[in-house]
Amino acid sequence: MTVDAVLVGAGQRGRFVYGAWALRFPHRLRFVAVADPDPRRRRRFGDDHHIPPSRRFADADELFSHGRIATAAVIATDDRTHLRAATAALEAGYEVLVEKPAAHHLDGVVELARVAAAAEGNLHVAHVLRFTTFFLTLHRLVTSGSIGEVVTVEHRENVASWHMAHSFVRGNWGRAAEATPMIVQKACHDFDILTWNVPDPVVRLSSMGSLLEFRPERAPGGATERCTDPCPVVDCPYDARRIYLGTDATGWPHHVLGDDLTPQGRRIALRTGPYGRCVYRADSDVVDHQVVTMETASGATMVLCMHGHSAEEARTMRYDGTKGTLRAVFGRSQEIEVTDHRTGALRRVPVDAGTGGHGGGDDGLVAAFVGAAAEGRPSPVDLSVIIESHLLAFLAEEARITGTTIDVADRRAALVERLR
Ligand SMILES: NC(=O)c1ccc[n+]([C@@H]2O[C@H](COP(=O)([O-])OP(=O)(O)OC[C@H]3O[C@@H](n4cnc5c(N)ncnc54)[C@H](O)[C@@H]3O)[C@@H](O)[C@H]2O)c1
Repeated sequence: MTVDAVLVGAGQRGRFVYGAWALRFPHRLRFVAVADPDPRRRRRFGDDHHIPPSRRFADADELFSHGRIATAAVIATDDRTHLRAATAALEAGYEVLVEKPAAHHLDGVVELARVAAAAEGNLHVAHVLRFTTFFLTLHRLVTSGSIGEVVTVEHRENVASWHMAHSFVRGNWGRAAEATPMIVQKACHDFDILTWNVPDPVVRLSSMGSLLEFRPERAPGGATERCTDPCPVVDCPYDARRIYLGTDATGWPHHVLGDDLTPQGRRIALRTGPYGRCVYRADSDVVDHQVVTMETASGATMVLCMHGHSAEEARTMRYDGTKGTLRAVFGRSQEIEVTDHRTGALRRVPVDAGTGGHGGGDDGLVAAFVGAAAEGRPSPVDLSVIIESHLLAFLAEEARITGTTIDVADRRAALVERLR
């Protein structure tokens, strides 16, 4: 069965993840309408998917004012519009897949869950890591008792330095007022994985972090406003010319620069657009490193470290339990190591590396959503689980800003009360 869908937000995710999947599997997913205020993106997506002009809308509001015109709605707009668009889609009766974070504030997440619970259709959130073979295997190993009861977890989200500069300094998530905090935007996946693997609820949480590097006072002497001025600093790791003018310009992040990816087109984009700005003068005001410490009801502890100064893009994890230790690297290795305390035996569990975005998670997510939407089935990630991962992420930011240890149990109880 082919699922008809509307796409809201024809940007990077909308075009290259959801749109591309529909073009690869036209017998499973077909986009019949698109909404995006950017006329170029709207036209390009409309043309790629043969959408008639009458079904190309200026924004989410205009599209949803027509009621339900397809089975499914995919919301891939910027963080601050998810809540409004997903609410309208659910109220119109769609099966909804919304990009993460589900909303840009915690009250919004709770409100969306309330709307979803009452809606005819189901709400799915794009927690892509859940759909990778890697994290499915890790989940099975931890929850099947292979390391006994979990005592302590160290989970690191090591964002590569060029990715940090691209997304969280020069790009969409560099300024707190325009997006969601990095610990929500980037690490809501990590909180989702932690709460999935360790369902024992977190009861206390604290956090520290700051913007250490990407500030004007840290700019090397002589650095210019743009790398293309040209900047005389020869050893800057963030030189946009090196990052974006290499020979391979086919995939992400190059295609975020614009439509013209010829060397000349990319040079113009760097001279005029956000991605050519000096990282030290890009007005970034979000963290570039943050740690979150958590304690669960049974007394286990977890540390989540997220930062943007990694040589490689990788999530590294260590789970220590009463019977064994598990070590895993998502992004590089194709195995998970489990060591038994009693025998000392080391077991290497092979994991399929997955292909495509997020180690196969992008494809897995879309396939799961389309399969569920075809049958009106709910998401495998329950609404309460969605609330929990977002609760921890937003409270982590609050704890960092206020410098306090937060009683999560109290705050969760208040949310549950509001959902009644
Ligand atoms: N699941 C993941 O792993 C993952 C990875 C990257 C990004 N994201 C999320 O995906 C979302 C989109 O990110 P992106 O990189 O594609 O951004 P983008 O800026 O490339 O695309 C967003 C698009 O939404 C459009 N838009 C804005 N307001 C709209 C409205 N009211 N109606 C219709 N369209 C509207 C914009 O014009 C733009 O084309 C973000 O929320 C981001 O956090 C998720």
